Formats: sequence, structure tokens, C-alpha cells
Amino acid sequence: MTDGNYIKACLRDGIPTDGSPVVVSLLGKKVGIFLRGEEIYALQMSCKHQGADLSKGRVTQGIVTCPRHGWRYDLQTGECVEPENGAPLRFHEVKVDGPQVWVSIHPRQA
Ligand code: FES
Repeated sequence: MTDGNYIKACLRDGIPTDGSPVVVSLLGKKVGIFLRGEEIYALQMSCKHQGADLSKGRVTQGIVTCPRHGWRYDLQTGECVEPENGAPLRFHEVKVDGPQVWVSIHPRQA
């Protein structure tokens, strides 16, 4: 279901509190929805290095680490924090309406 530029993605209570994401498919791309504290972030899950699935990566302190070669991305901005010149991930704006989490259909890039 869509609402203008947003699509219903998941329920807020359905996002794991251990840092792992809920994964949804959006326009053919895998998007991970992460909870960090009270904030929710949605990022595309294909690593910019060689395309590994970041939803299988480890999340610590707002950073997701690629399971293949260890590139690290900031969940809030999609920025690659290691290596420094790594390409950023695209991210989606998030809206929460009661229990429902919506994400923007079109991604942005930092
Ligand atoms: S595929 Fe992610 S770091 Fe290489």
C-alpha cells in the first residue's frame, strides 16, 4: 500500500532490537529497516564494494559491517566510514504513523 511517495514497510514492533534489520523489497532492491534507540533507518542492502548482502552483516553502534570484506556503513546516512573513499549506500526516508513504518519509495544518497 502506498501513500504518495511512501510505502508501508513493516510494523515498528516487528523490527528486532538486537540491531538486525527487517528486510523488504522495494522497486526490486533489498532494503533493510533498522532500529537504533528510538530511531529507524532504511538503507539499500547491496554492499557498494562487491554487492554482498549487508542484511547479513553485523551491526554495532549504528554501523553495519559487510560480512564479506568488512566495509562499514553509517546506518543514519548510508555513508561508508571504512574505507574512507568507499561509495555510500542509498537510504530511504522513514515515517512512523502509530505502529506502522513507512519508507519513501525513492532512495536518496548522502
Ligand atoms: S562485498 Fe562488502 S566489503 Fe566486499
